[in-house]
Amino acid sequence: MDIKVIQGAIQKQDADVLVVNLFAGARPGGATGAVDQALGGQISAAIDLGDFEGKAGQTLLLYTHGQIPAPRVLVVGLGEQEGFDLERARRAAGTAIGTLSHLDAKSAATILHGTGAGNLPVEPAAQAVAEASLLAVYRFDEYRSNPQSESLAKLHIVEFDSTKLKEARRGVRRGRALAEATCLARDLVNHPGGEVTPAYLARTARHLAKTYDLRCRVFSAKGLAELGMDALVAVGQGSANKPRFIVLEHGPRKGDPLVFVGKGITFDSGGLSLKSVEGIRTMKTDMSGAAAVLGAMQAVAALGLKRQVVGLIAAAENMPSSTAFRPDDVLSTLAGKTIEIISTDAEGRLVLADALAYATRYEPAAVIDLATLTGACVTALGHHASGLFANDDNLANRLLAAGEQTGERLWRLPLWPEYREQIDSDIADMKNSGGQPAGASTAAALLAEFADYPWAHLDIAGTAWCEKAKPYVPRGGVGIGVRLLTQLALDWSSS
Ligand code: BES
Ligand code: MN
Ligand code: ZN
Repeated sequence: MDIKVIQGAIQKQDADVLVVNLFAGARPGGATGAVDQALGGQISAAIDLGDFEGKAGQTLLLYTHGQIPAPRVLVVGLGEQEGFDLERARRAAGTAIGTLSHLDAKSAATILHGTGAGNLPVEPAAQAVAEASLLAVYRFDEYRSNPQSESLAKLHIVEFDSTKLKEARRGVRRGRALAEATCLARDLVNHPGGEVTPAYLARTARHLAKTYDLRCRVFSAKGLAELGMDALVAVGQGSANKPRFIVLEHGPRKGDPLVFVGKGITFDSGGLSLKSVEGIRTMKTDMSGAAAVLGAMQAVAALGLKRQVVGLIAAAENMPSSTAFRPDDVLSTLAGKTIEIISTDAEGRLVLADALAYATRYEPAAVIDLATLTGACVTALGHHASGLFANDDNLANRLLAAGEQTGERLWRLPLWPEYREQIDSDIADMKNSGGQPAGASTAAALLAEFADYPWAHLDIAGTAWCEKAKPYVPRGGVGIGVRLLTQLALDWSSS
């Protein structure tokens, strides 16, 4: 979908549909008021009749019978004016696109949501509309014999004030970069595990490196053994699809970098601790952390961030076979610490242990890992926030702020010493499962053993996959973490 910012009055635009908006309980004003007037008060009439209240998620479709050049007008409700923010602007844009997808409209012209009475600055508001519109038109069609072609090809963002066009265009550029990177992550998650193997993730990384001028290094079987990534090797050794460790670097090789680490289990069967028929479904999504890191590296490069950012991905397929690692095995790790295996299904923390140890060599300013790590985190927070664990309050607060800014909400959970005691082993330095209680925290406690720098861990098990469509998130892979990590990197490099 092509998005352009143009100067003009919305009611004069020649598009298949115009998109305007209304706060709950408000009368049409500004651009919406101008459209209402041109239509002889049709929007006001709908409000007076009680058919349209401006509630969030509500829409009103009007036909204009030649009163203005555009044949249709769509009014989207913004909800209460109080507390209006970028997330609600994104949802309004997503709702509009969702409604338009049911019409035979090829072009639309929209105003920015919330830059009038809502008091949002133009640049982030334009970013929000572009970003959410592109995220809302996303479809994953690669396995359909008859993919539907994209019907809405053109979106004009119409701004009356010519002094604001530059800001709006900057916002659109940023929104597009973030949406495209998020859609890369969605594609990677939506593809089946038989397709997206560790080697596929490595090919994707190499392709990104070529396209966006990143440095890329991939360690395969021999390299992994030489490095001493024994835990990653063990998790992958039951599968014919061999593990990989992927390094992507952006920016000047100086200063202490930000490092992103992704869990890349391309399919998690549980290994010999095999999952149940229900539990195994959707386990192609167990590489969502890796997808987020690949997406964030693309966005950071596309936006030309000035600071060094590194992406690390531990990729393996967790399968049962005669070569698989076993419950009761004791693994050594890159950091030298040993781990007793209670369950081969607690594999994410094992591959991350080696990736986190590798990150040490960068003397990083901060490391953030993302992982679909525990069902326990889904039990705690559902699908409405990712779990945040950190050994550094400043980093945790920066992440919480980026979460608010992007709508990718986080909730901080504890990392108390008692959780570390829960994974004490009788025969090794630690064991890989602490049992049911506080399963998300005991998993994080194992990771913390390998993080000797400011570190945060995001458990995205509940947020990486969407069962119930939202205004700009269709069912399937969410691409969670891409916008969050990029926002963090942008904030970091400007402070
Ligand atoms: N990949 C799973 C966690 C998961 C569960 C992700 C549901 C997405 C949705 C992880 O590897 C796992 O199997 N965790 C186990 C750990 C347990 C064996 C200690 C779990 O959460 O049950
Ligand atoms: Mn598992
Ligand atoms: Zn897993």
